[in-house]
Amino acid sequence: MKFPEVRMRRLRSTPALEEMLSETIIKPSDFILPLFFNEMITKDTPVPSMPGVSNHPLSGYEDLAHGIKNNGVSSVLVFGIPATKDKEGSQAYDYDGVSQKAIRGIKENSDLIVIADLCMCEYTDHGHCGIVKDGNVDNDQTLTQYGKIAVAQAEAGADMIAPSGMMDGQVGVIRKALDDAGFCNIPIMAYSAKYCSAFYGPFRDAVASSFGNNSRSAYQMQCGNRREAMHEIELDVSEGADIIMVKPASSYLDIIREARNRFDTPIAAYQVSGEYSMIEAAAINGWIDGKRAMMESLLSIKRAGSDMIITYYAERVSRELALWRR
Ligand code: PBG
Repeated sequence: MKFPEVRMRRLRSTPALEEMLSETIIKPSDFILPLFFNEMITKDTPVPSMPGVSNHPLSGYEDLAHGIKNNGVSSVLVFGIPATKDKEGSQAYDYDGVSQKAIRGIKENSDLIVIADLCMCEYTDHGHCGIVKDGNVDNDQTLTQYGKIAVAQAEAGADMIAPSGMMDGQVGVIRKALDDAGFCNIPIMAYSAKYCSAFYGPFRDAVASSFGNNSRSAYQMQCGNRREAMHEIELDVSEGADIIMVKPASSYLDIIREARNRFDTPIAAYQVSGEYSMIEAAAINGWIDGKRAMMESLLSIKRAGSDMIITYYAERVSRELALWRR
């Protein structure tokens, strides 16, 4: 059958019908809010390239968590910005490292789900995601560090560990380190298909990564590769990843969809800093409707097949969804 018997517009005639026929639903529990804790500040400090996003000090956890919960968000992804950096990124696994302090602070003052981002780039003086040897990031030496970091984060109270460094074998090594330390129930959310992306620009500003003009192309994926992403995901699943991730999100919706079709593992997508800042910049200039663009971008990422979305919009979108429902 076709026109004139078929008229697609019949089912688009009222908002109520539209709601009945919506195929994709986003809800507050889909969203994970990234949080930046900076050891060198005493009050919230805005990130210039990310309007509406701040660095937080290592204090005031109760108010911070309360505000987040009040907006309907129940999980956060913690990043730390240390006062001192060194070659080995030793603050990443120090008992008193910024990330461990922040994790303890949130867990002691709230029931938020705390996911710990596990990487070394915020902690190394060269800004790479691992130990550098002969000008290159040494994969296997870095894995030893990752194991130590995972255990330190779990001991601090993290509910989940999210390795983002793209070292080969990282999921397996972290799984073993956690199990050996008695944390067999702590899940791993693996940044499996992480692309070497220009959209991380504002994040590097936010975490004061001393990276300069270096490139992570020796460990992050090149943006045109789709089959390689499936291979990465397959390896992470076989090493014990509980959740896999595609990052960034909006330019990689095809990767999310293909992963959804091929794997039954839950999928997270990371709407990264540049994706957020582009929408915000255009909205601030009056070039697009920021609220609608936010909703559309998140709905699209969910429609592509992700189960959860890490986004700087987590609080704002959850507030909007609560208003809609009323
Ligand atoms: C690095 C890391 C990055 C992000 C999260 N973890 C960036 C990078 O690889 O430079 C990006 C997050 C964002 O852009 O919002 N471990």
